[in-house]
Amino acid sequence: MNQRLFFAATLRNRLPISKILGKFLTQKGSVLELASGSGEHGVYFQNLFPNLVWLTSDPNPSYRESIISWINYKRLNNIMPKPLDLDVRASNWPVPEKSCKDLIAIVAINLLHVSDWGCTEALFKGSRNILKKDGLLILYGPFIKDRKYTSESNSIFDLSLKEQNANWGLREIEKVDCVAIKNSFVKLHLIDMPANNFSVIYKRT
Ligand SMILES: C[S@@+](CC[C@H](N)C(=O)[O-])C[C@H]1O[C@@H](n2cnc3c(N)ncnc32)[C@H](O)[C@@H]1O
Repeated sequence: MNQRLFFAATLRNRLPISKILGKFLTQKGSVLELASGSGEHGVYFQNLFPNLVWLTSDPNPSYRESIISWINYKRLNNIMPKPLDLDVRASNWPVPEKSCKDLIAIVAINLLHVSDWGCTEALFKGSRNILKKDGLLILYGPFIKDRKYTSESNSIFDLSLKEQNANWGLREIEKVDCVAIKNSFVKLHLIDMPANNFSVIYKRT
């Protein structure tokens, strides 16, 4: 059954994000994408980077259905595994041993501001547990920097998130960096992206 979902933002941000991924994901191996949502990013990146195995995941069953539909629609079944039912707060992430063995990076796009702060902490803890030394954790999304919104539209967006859920909202990049350090990650790059977003590249030490 075709249950493909369409998230408008993915069409706008997939190309700029792919340029960042292309710079840093230069080795062969598996990449675990957390919070894959509709799966549109996953199939796009898998097509662009045939040397990688793109392993999608999401805790929402209807999103996992959409990811499966996208994988089938793009005829990537032979390369891409089925999406994992992965909630970052789980103490053991259900990543198969084979994928863990050749895991070179974890990617999370637009997750931290639509989940509570505990998810940010859990994301780094879980990533530390499965990434080997020099493995990368790549985040993308809007952040507060130097205690300031980087645009008026981001401050309005933050308010609207908090109206939906008091525990959601844009994170301060400096606070995220502290969690990273506590979990043996070092920040390599903070990269300005279109539409007042950032890509953040952390390395497991
Ligand atoms: C704004 S959507 C982003 C989806 C996709 N990455 C994108 O950019 O289109 C947020 C995603 O975070 C996922 N999510 C929320 N809480 C989560 C958690 N605790 N663990 C893993 N994923 C979570 C949701 O299911 C949803 O797919």
